[in-house]
Amino acid sequence: HKNLEVRSTRPFYHLTPPTGWMNDPNGMVFFKGEYHIFYQHNPDDIVWGPMHWRHAISSDLFHWKDQGIKIEPDEIGTIFSGSAVVDWQNTSGFQTGDEEVLVAMFTHAGNLQVQSLAYSNDRGRTWEKYDNNPVLSKVGDFRDPKVFFYSPEQKWIQVIAAGDRIQIYSSLNMVDWVFESDFGPGIGYTNGVWECPDLFPLKSEDGTEKWIMIVSVGGTSEYSGVNGGSATQYFVGDFDGNKFTHENDEILWADYGIDNYAGITWSDIPNEDGRRIFIGWMNNWHYAGLIPATEWRGAMTVPRQLGLKKNSDNEYFMTFEPVEELLGVAGKNETYNEAVQEINIEDNEIIQSGSFKIKTQINLSNNSFFELKIYNSREEVLLKYDKNQAVFSIDRSFSGNTHVHNLFVKTIKCDYAIKDNILPLEILLDQSSIEVFVNNGEKVMTALIFPRYEFNDLKITGSGGSELIQGLELVSIKKTVDN
Ligand code: FRU
Repeated sequence: HKNLEVRSTRPFYHLTPPTGWMNDPNGMVFFKGEYHIFYQHNPDDIVWGPMHWRHAISSDLFHWKDQGIKIEPDEIGTIFSGSAVVDWQNTSGFQTGDEEVLVAMFTHAGNLQVQSLAYSNDRGRTWEKYDNNPVLSKVGDFRDPKVFFYSPEQKWIQVIAAGDRIQIYSSLNMVDWVFESDFGPGIGYTNGVWECPDLFPLKSEDGTEKWIMIVSVGGTSEYSGVNGGSATQYFVGDFDGNKFTHENDEILWADYGIDNYAGITWSDIPNEDGRRIFIGWMNNWHYAGLIPATEWRGAMTVPRQLGLKKNSDNEYFMTFEPVEELLGVAGKNETYNEAVQEINIEDNEIIQSGSFKIKTQINLSNNSFFELKIYNSREEVLLKYDKNQAVFSIDRSFSGNTHVHNLFVKTIKCDYAIKDNILPLEILLDQSSIEVFVNNGEKVMTALIFPRYEFNDLKITGSGGSELIQGLELVSIKKTVDN
């Protein structure tokens, strides 16, 4: 067995910092064929510290080119989370040449948390801070501005987290902001500080348009969030230019696993494309500073395309699927077509690479239970589904280095009742993470794992019915990030 210390825990196709610490994704904007992402970054240590915005660019959401640090701390404060937009009409007046200006809005964290601007007139290569920062101040928790252009009223809208609520502000130029409304307190999941909001329209498969409000909740107990610690909830509802109202009764989570936090969506993806793409920090504040690391720490989830569907109670919920660009970075693949009751794939090269996708279809007409195991002779990660309990679970308690934290030995659970008995599954592994997409993204579970040795084998078994597995595809994924 190859020891992972030799092989490294660094993901092949998930964005990581070349060195230093990473948390929240920031300032994601699409402009002239390039996807930009920034992230919370401490260049001097592998724990959280003075925050900077580090930048990466990609044309396919997988091959990321590091651009270094673009926004640095100054006398006002360090650089907390925020967003970026294309100012198509130069409402800010920051445009200097023929090309549209990119404007970023972020939290300056000093004695107070205040909101500031920076802009770029060279497609994001260099950034200048606005002269009269900050542009918006308030006492207390006040951070993570997410800005978008609300075309019906030709104005900018900002959603920002203020402790126990989200606040909505509007502006004509991104410099002068007017308070519009509060969303919260006391709505949805409230057990933790509210952070990193997002607000955007999304079309459902039936053509209806709804507005989605994303809110991360910094829960810090083993019992907070969805499976402990911090987690990201969202609301489905309506926005009228001033106020967001939600309609969902149930609490909805962007991820029913444990390691997906502070996620928001890309700005300015062209309308004809209609895509809304989300990315999260693949970690949990409850143990983020403790995960195995030497020179760098932290990774993003795979970029996920959002969809909107109705459940059996006629309530809308979002689906999350890996963006289709994932196909473009696929390598070798192996297909197992027959319907079988059990599958055993041993000493497999694709699995040994540590970076792959499993696509399969599970048939639960004759089985009430199945278990999918990715393993080597000493370690395993288990995905289980119990049809009678209607519960999915990920068990990472023997997945390698579980001393990271108690939560590594606790089963990760997600309620899911199947409608018909066929269950499509897509599973992404990448050295130190597993992302499970159930039934075309109706539920997603993300979890970090730290196997010490490479996995070799895959096994799926059921409760003793027949024809459990209706085909399986194993696809290797190429290394896309040069770190
Ligand atoms: C969320 C968060 C944000 C803040 C940033 C600081 O993970 O706490 O609210 O802006 O991290 O790094």
